[in-house]
Amino acid sequence: MIEPVRIGVLGCASIAWRRMLPAMSEVPEIEVIAVASRDLSKAESFAARFDCAAVPGYERLLEREDVDAVYLPLPAGLRADWVRRALDAGKHVFGEKPLTTSARAAAELVELAREKRLLLRENFMFLHHGQHAAVRELVRDGKIGELRSFTAVFGIPPREPGDIRYQPELGGGALLDVGVYPLRAAQFFLPGELAVLGAALREDSGVDVAGSVLLGAERGVTAQLGFGFEHHYRNTYELWGSSGRITLDRVFTPPAEMAPVIRIETGGGVEEIPLPPDDQFRNSATAFALDVSSGADIDAPGAAGAVHSGEDTVRLAALVDSVRRTAQTTA
Ligand SMILES: NC(=O)c1ccc[n+]([C@@H]2O[C@H](COP(=O)([O-])OP(=O)(O)OC[C@H]3O[C@@H](n4cnc5c(N)ncnc54)[C@H](OP(=O)(O)O)[C@@H]3O)[C@@H](O)[C@H]2O)c1
Repeated sequence: MIEPVRIGVLGCASIAWRRMLPAMSEVPEIEVIAVASRDLSKAESFAARFDCAAVPGYERLLEREDVDAVYLPLPAGLRADWVRRALDAGKHVFGEKPLTTSARAAAELVELAREKRLLLRENFMFLHHGQHAAVRELVRDGKIGELRSFTAVFGIPPREPGDIRYQPELGGGALLDVGVYPLRAAQFFLPGELAVLGAALREDSGVDVAGSVLLGAERGVTAQLGFGFEHHYRNTYELWGSSGRITLDRVFTPPAEMAPVIRIETGGGVEEIPLPPDDQFRNSATAFALDVSSGADIDAPGAAGAVHSGEDTVRLAALVDSVRRTAQTTA
């Protein structure tokens, strides 16, 4: 029996309360040891629910010797600094996406983790749901002929006015919050390195609130992506080939109890392939813990398979930088 990985949480984030800590509590390979907050009373309410210690301030949590790894759901603009501090304190890091707001910071942190032989994983949860591997297999098997293009969107309705996503100094904006999902999905499905052929961002009060991106891949394959904070809730993708197309809904936020259905349309008609439900929160937390326990390399597949390696973190951050450089921005 392997000893569970002892995890400390930096920040009493909503995602930790609603999803990640309930999932971690059910993973035998994980023990949640402590939760830190800038506000001790918040930490105490988390500690009461998840049966762990409440810690005032993030530094104090990093000083604890009984913490092997930290889960880091801080606002995107603060994450790089705390990832660095956690690595310097000798902790493995499980950081929410996007890990940083620039490719340079991503590359520095991944290099630091390599030097210190610590695991640093950016939590692209959706990659841990079985539905995407099933779709990729169908495409590889030629189910829709030659892949011509990929379309993906992630849009959510407006958040509360004070939300971290509207604050430029905290790394707010739709590109970093929701846009990274279709970008990462394009990297998952399309061949070779991706080039940004065009991009548009709409800004409001200092942050981008909506955007579209056109990407080019090998063999003339393209991707058209859309994202934003002022939309009807939707996250979906389509792969369009020479002899058919595959569509899938709830691609980034499938509830654990939902049985996904892959829809394939060809000249022969419509086929629907039902898949079993899958729990991406639980899967991603388990994968992180198994990879820490087995001493997995940041760049190599670990016990649970590194579906998103250190190199992938840097590639994604570089693509985000490239979208920003290319984008026409309107108010
Ligand atoms: N992987 C996924 O599926 C997924 C889903 C949702 C969100 N996320 C990511 O998780 C992150 C957190 O999202 P959320 O919706 O959970 O946000 P949130 O509830 O606002 O949580 C952010 C936390 O950061 C801490 N914090 C530190 N300095 C802060 C500051 N100056 N202002 C505000 N908060 C500060 C706060 O903890 P204390 O007050 O306790 O210190 C706060 O609870 C986002 O970056 C998002 O990208 C990922």
